[in-house]
This record gives sequence, structure tokens and C-alpha cells, in this order.
Amino acid sequence: MPLVTTKEMFEKSMKEGFAIGAFNVNNMEIIQAIMDAAAESKSPVIMQASSSAIKYARINYLMKMVEAAVEEHPEIPVAIHLDHGPDFETAKMCIDSGFTSVMFDGSKYDFEENVRLTKEVVDYAHSKGVVVEAELGKLAGIEDEVNVDSKDAMYTDPDQAKEFVERTDCDSLAIAIGTSHGAYKFKGEAKLRFDILKEIKERIPTTPIVLHGASTVIPELVEMCNKNGGDIPGAKGVPDEMLNEASKSGVSKINVDTDIRLAMTGAIRKVFVEEPSAFDPRKYLTSARDLIKETVSHKIRDVFGSTGKI
Ligand code: G3H
Ligand code: 13P
Ligand code: ZN
Repeated sequence: MPLVTTKEMFEKSMKEGFAIGAFNVNNMEIIQAIMDAAAESKSPVIMQASSSAIKYARINYLMKMVEAAVEEHPEIPVAIHLDHGPDFETAKMCIDSGFTSVMFDGSKYDFEENVRLTKEVVDYAHSKGVVVEAELGKLAGIEDEVNVDSKDAMYTDPDQAKEFVERTDCDSLAIAIGTSHGAYKFKGEAKLRFDILKEIKERIPTTPIVLHGASTVIPELVEMCNKNGGDIPGAKGVPDEMLNEASKSGVSKINVDTDIRLAMTGAIRKVFVEEPSAFDPRKYLTSARDLIKETVSHKIRDVFGSTGKI
């Protein structure tokens, strides 16, 4: 099976009540680990690259490595997706390079401008058989939450979501229900607004929903980093149980980057501390790849419910 769009995988996810993991990729080890985990679990998977990841790894390398992964496992549906596309040019570059899905992130613009810019990307993408994820609402970082009113204003408005999808014709929608990017998502208890998710699903039942900022910030991985010379105090993410509930409540795509970064960094730090004489990159990158695979497998198998859904 060549690279696919997310269309069929999302249709199946909405019908059967599971989510597909979208994992951020920057290099060969991460791509191999994700592919091996998906293949072992017979799960569809989305590999996604941000514009800064593309700048780092270079688009041709990323494409060719993802293509190599697909060649190794033709039985697994794999989509290659632009994460947080900032503008039309970046989306076009990815589409023209063979990406099967792009995100245009217009969440920093006002509603009308977000509609206009998203529609431009949708028109071009659809003319090339590529699907588009759009975003409505703002993913609040803990520093952004000044007071309850301003926090409420950041969540996705269900009525606006309906109008937005109708006017842009986007294929999936990223929503804000309380998650945020990075390792510091909540100051106190983790809380997601499942009530807003429910209302959004009622308004746009056939539109696949995407959850960004959805890393668990796995405590064992944070501890592994910190025990081996790292300094990531007070990190906190979205608990597995909440992500599992989201997967069963209409979220079709769950984005994970931070947990991969933590796994890679924790594994490498551990080798450096425990074996100070090791200097062959294959030694510590093998440990990193193994731990990323274990992390991705756990999410697919135990949290997102996509095992066997090919
Ligand atoms: O949502 C953001 C992703 O984690 C990508 O981050 O722009 O540093 O590659 P990045
Ligand atoms: P995390 O920082 O929670 O991994 O979120 C990643 C993400 O949303 C990528 O778009
Ligand atoms: Zn994101």
C-alpha cells in the first residue's frame, strides 16, 4: 500500500470509536520506531512533520525515509502530514513533495481570516487529492490562562465550528478543549472539557476531530531524564485515561510529540550516565529507538485503541 490520505482511516475511526496516533518525526530512528510499533500492532498511523522539523531534516529526506518505512510494511496504512502549517506556501511545498495530508493552522488569526486562509489551502490541496486539517480555538499554555473568562474564550466554540467547517470544506478539525503543547500542560489537576467536545460532535458529526497537545508527559520518562542529569521539574500532561475517553468520544487523531522527545532524551541520557565510555552513536540511538517504539506501542495498544484497525 502506498502512502494514503487520512480519509479512510478517519471514517473507520469514527465508525468504530478509536483514535489514530499522529506522531511527530524528525529523523530516521523516530520514523523506524513508529513504523515498527504500528506494524507490530497492525495499526494505521500518521507521521507528521512541523515546518521546523522539515527545516531541520529537509523535506526530501523526510519523504524518502517515510516512503522506505511504507515499503517495509505495505500492509499498514500510513499518512504523511504537515503539522501546524503556517502559510499557503509551506502547505503547497508539502503537497507538491508528496505529503498526503496538510494542516493549515490559522488559529492565531481572527475567524474570518482563518476561514479565508484555510479555504485557500483546501482548494489547492483538494485539487491534488490531498486532505486538510484546520484549527479553530486556541491551545492555552498554562501561562496563557489569565482568568476564567479569557480561558473560556480560547476553547473552540461549537457553533463557530459548524460554520467554519461548512465555509472552508476542511477535512478534519483541530479543537481546543484544554490541552496545550509541550511538557507543562496543567498547573493543578489535568482537566479536559469533554462537554465542549460533545457539543462539537453534535454540530459536526461527520467531521473527524483532532486533539493537539496530547502527550501524557509520561512520568517514568521525565524521571529517567531527571535521574540522568536532566532538569525538567514539574512537567505534567494528559493522563492516559482521558486520552482513552477522548478516543472513544469522537476524537479521531491524537497528536504526540513531547512523549517521543522525552523517550529519546531519557534513553540517550541513561546510556551516557551508565556507560561514560560509549561514544558509538549506534549504541545510544538504538536505546532511543527501542524506547520510542515501546512508548508508541503503549499508546496504540493501551490508549488509542487502534490495534488491528488496518
Ligand atoms: O505542535 C508542535 C509540535 O510539537 C512541533 O514542534 O515546531 O518544535 O517541531 P516543533
Ligand atoms: P505534545 O506537545 O503534547 O506532544 O503535542 C504535540 C502536537 O500537538 C503536535 O502538533
Ligand atoms: Zn499541535
